[in-house]
Amino acid sequence: MGGKPARIIALTNGFHGRTLGALSATWKPAIRKPFEPLVPSIQFVRAGDPFALYEAFAETGVGHYGKGPVAAVIMELIQGEAGVKPLGADYVKQVRQMCDIHNALLIIDEVQTGIGRTGSWFAFQREDLSGGITPDIVTFAKGVAGGFPMGGMIAFGSKLSALFTPGSHGSTFAGNPLGAAAALATLSVIEQDGLVANAEERGRQLREGLMATGNPLYVSVRGRGLLDAVELSHPCAHAAMNWCLEHGLIVNAVRADALRFAPPLIVSEQDVDDALAILKAVPTDLPND
Ligand SMILES: Cc1ncc(COP(=O)(O)O)c(C=O)c1O
Repeated sequence: MGGKPARIIALTNGFHGRTLGALSATWKPAIRKPFEPLVPSIQFVRAGDPFALYEAFAETGVGHYGKGPVAAVIMELIQGEAGVKPLGADYVKQVRQMCDIHNALLIIDEVQTGIGRTGSWFAFQREDLSGGITPDIVTFAKGVAGGFPMGGMIAFGSKLSALFTPGSHGSTFAGNPLGAAAALATLSVIEQDGLVANAEERGRQLREGLMATGNPLYVSVRGRGLLDAVELSHPCAHAAMNWCLEHGLIVNAVRADALRFAPPLIVSEQDVDDALAILKAVPTDLPND
């Protein structure tokens, strides 16, 4: 390919974190700008649009023409920071197909969606989010060690996992025995206490309960398991978030017109009922953000 640098394709509205490499694949200009220059050769394409992806792959050229080959596509299956927006199973299947055709890796960032949050261990295991595809690489963190800093990645297939040999990647705190012990303990509690199924059931209770509150502030709900959002009738999410906080409920104004819910996986039926009672009472005349 004429030695042109390989590209990584990331999606508009995607969020992958604030360390340099991850930030380079994060879309939001306001977060990226202060840290530029970032890692080059990351190209953003419109999320959910298979034709945009097709075109981006097709830009690969030989000699003086075109860009370098696509090494990988990185994406979330539910764009969390963008407002809990699932990409859609059909689109995800098309991305997988294009990666296969072009010999590119598909990296699914499950830092927000993984470890039971969406009602399955990983979001890619949900047919209704992934269309049943298998990624090449999955990243995870957050809930894996119950609050202890810990993250990792899984590479599927021995050809790929053999590329990372001992010593080829490391940092002071990497391979941390305390982190590994915390993760093992957390994973066994999640398994023994049936918290993945709890996420699915409590999430359904939350989404259905929200629309049943009859509060006209709530237009529609979306999400899976315990990663959910409600669309608001007007852009008052910050005022709604503060009102909820004052009344004992933690929610997140993920967009001006949406609240995100990501309660702990141990949340009980009674906890969700209590949350719904607070959400029912949120005033409808809150000021816009
Ligand atoms: C999808 C996703 N990827 C990665 C991260 C990790 O971000 P950071 O490295 O800033 O903790 C997050 C954190 O919210 C996330 O939501």
